[in-house]
Amino acid sequence: MRKLLILALLVLPLLALPAAAVTPRTRALLPVHIFGWPADTPALERLGLPLVEDACEALGAVHADGVAVGARGHPAVFGFYANKQLTTGEGGMVTVGDPALKERIDAERNQGRAPNMDWLDHDRLGFNYRLSDVACALGLAQLTRLDGLLADRARAAAAYREALVGIDGLGLPCADAGGHVRGWFVFVVQVPRGIERDAVVERLRARGVASKPYLPAIHLMSYYREAFGHRPGEFPVCEDVAARSIALPFFPGLTEGQVGRVAEALREALFS
Ligand SMILES: Cc1ncc(COP(=O)(O)O)c(C=O)c1O
Repeated sequence: MRKLLILALLVLPLLALPAAAVTPRTRALLPVHIFGWPADTPALERLGLPLVEDACEALGAVHADGVAVGARGHPAVFGFYANKQLTTGEGGMVTVGDPALKERIDAERNQGRAPNMDWLDHDRLGFNYRLSDVACALGLAQLTRLDGLLADRARAAAAYREALVGIDGLGLPCADAGGHVRGWFVFVVQVPRGIERDAVVERLRARGVASKPYLPAIHLMSYYREAFGHRPGEFPVCEDVAARSIALPFFPGLTEGQVGRVAEALREALFS
């Protein structure tokens, strides 16, 4: 497993394809559909390497060619944690195109039992990665409302965009564009250069609005610094984006009034 070199690619729109990062040791690619934006999977497919998609944040997202994220046939994982588009509290889902791989995953998550096996017989080593029945009941109930939940998130995002678009220098998340449909997960803005992000978070808090620095640059997290010696300056674009990003309150039931209140508080927090 250690020999398996997986490139974790945060593939953002308009970035040049990182084909140059592929080496003879590259075994697979792991595109992340970050914040619900469809990674350029079709372009990565052309590199001819196996793909495993991290679609944890991207339920409801659709590629420009009309294929839903996670439906291209590569193994793709979705997260159902409480902040996701659909939740079972914890856990998630794997989508696959290959029936043999599905059978293997079904067996390995179920303590190594094959589908046609008798009770308490195992034909391989497995794990217990099962969702509980209670979690599944929650997820199935959410599934019946999924279209509405996704539409509500898109509506909340559109309301934010309208309320924030005039703020000088504020970076907004891209909406549906170029035929891609976003599966709205979070609403993350970037404070203008020269404004201290953490002070903005604090000033929002003082105005009764919860927000979070989101996401930190992974390579600068303590573990990656200590285990792999990563240092600031290695990925300047990522570090700049991470240092200026704030996640605003975002959930399907967000009202226009609440969006207006957050927008007003953000305006004051940025420029007062
Ligand atoms: C992009 C991404 N990948 C992976 C995960 C991990 O999901 P889990 O903790 O459910 O395995 C998350 C969860 O937040 C995520 O957002």
